[in-house]
Amino acid sequence: MAKLAHAQWSSRMTFVLAAAGSAVGLGNIWRFSYMVGDSGGAAFVLVYLACVTLVGLPILVAEWMIGRRGQKNPINTMAELAANHGKSKAWALIGASGVLAAFLILSFYSVIGGWSLNYTLSSVLGTFNGQDADGISGLFGGMLGSPTTLLLWHTAFMALVVGIVARGVTKGLESAARLLMPALIILMLILVGYGVASGYFGEALAFMFRPDWSALNGGVVLAAMGQAFFTLSLGMGIMMAYGSYLGEDVNLISTARTVIILDTVIALLAGLAIFPIVFANGLSAGEGPGLIFVTLPLAFGNMAGGTILGLIFFLLLTFAALTSAISLLEPTVEMLEERTTMTRVTATLASGIGVWLLGVAALLSFNVWSEVLFFGLNIFDLLDTFTSKIMLPLTGLGAIVFVGWCLKRESVEAELGLSATGKNMWNIIARYVAPAGVIAVFITGLL
Ligand code: TRP
Repeated sequence: MAKLAHAQWSSRMTFVLAAAGSAVGLGNIWRFSYMVGDSGGAAFVLVYLACVTLVGLPILVAEWMIGRRGQKNPINTMAELAANHGKSKAWALIGASGVLAAFLILSFYSVIGGWSLNYTLSSVLGTFNGQDADGISGLFGGMLGSPTTLLLWHTAFMALVVGIVARGVTKGLESAARLLMPALIILMLILVGYGVASGYFGEALAFMFRPDWSALNGGVVLAAMGQAFFTLSLGMGIMMAYGSYLGEDVNLISTARTVIILDTVIALLAGLAIFPIVFANGLSAGEGPGLIFVTLPLAFGNMAGGTILGLIFFLLLTFAALTSAISLLEPTVEMLEERTTMTRVTATLASGIGVWLLGVAALLSFNVWSEVLFFGLNIFDLLDTFTSKIMLPLTGLGAIVFVGWCLKRESVEAELGLSATGKNMWNIIARYVAPAGVIAVFITGLL
């Protein structure tokens, strides 16, 4: 992508859409709701909101700032900026760890993207019509128990991602996001409306926002922070790479605020749509990764116009998953392109096949390999836990420490265009609150 040279609002708009395309995905709907359900509700949600504001926002700004200054891929950008500021070359490890994390995340992300594709087809076929909770759970269980079904859809999803990345048509998708993002919000609102009509909206609201602090422990806090990193696409150099396309005139803090609000609103709407269905049907909130796939089809199968709404919903979800998946494959492809003699197409195919293979191991953990455990986790959970709870926070910590402590303070303040109070706040948050927050959560969560 060439450096954007539009008028300010249009360059900012294009950028917000690209960043939101990466941020808004399965993380907002599938992962957010199941994590809330698993972690006991409101306590998790409130800690998550605190993490997004106090840790997510400064790290998002830090990653963009590093990218905008470096103008290279994350590894070279970090190496060069560190060298320019008399710091160790080891900072390049942050870039490298990001590329690896993106690769690992995509492997299990694609499995869930496959579920979404599968459910799109099932909606067209009317499979959910008139089913009760047992019927819907049975359908989901049938999919999980069948390695061939999971393999088929995982392969289809990865083929789409590889096809798009190989052709380099990601820009077209970003402009499509202009239409699809509002469509997704409208659909979520309709689902929330359905939840209100079900009579269980109050329960859902209380579950999500009236905290039972006794449910809070180090593990929940770490999960909430991991979710904040995951949903904002932080800690993998992806936002850093995006930052290199960012015009000098774009205000980082206000742009970060816009992207974060959009991302958070979609996640909260997803929760408000899903939990009324959970309570109305006596389902379990702690259902795990299957939560949206056993709740939403139940609603679609039993509401007027449900077939078409279900179809639109799963199409939009698949599309949101695709734009995120593309941003997850790009770093590996770019690295191979730059460090080997591979062409873009070969590099895309090679990375795609690698991700696909690891994804096969992840999908088998739902059936034939369900007993294969590492640290008590199956392969799917291991990939998810290791990336979101360890790699993303550590890499993000590196980015914020670098901006807070290694870059010249005056130049950072000037670039952010802050008032005197703003400068103080930024310095306190970027130098102390965010790094200490990540470290504290990390230590309590792992103890
Ligand atoms: N944020 C995306 C989601 O919520 C997933 C994703 C895309 C991601 N790129 C990322 C997560 C980079 C972590 C890092 O679905």
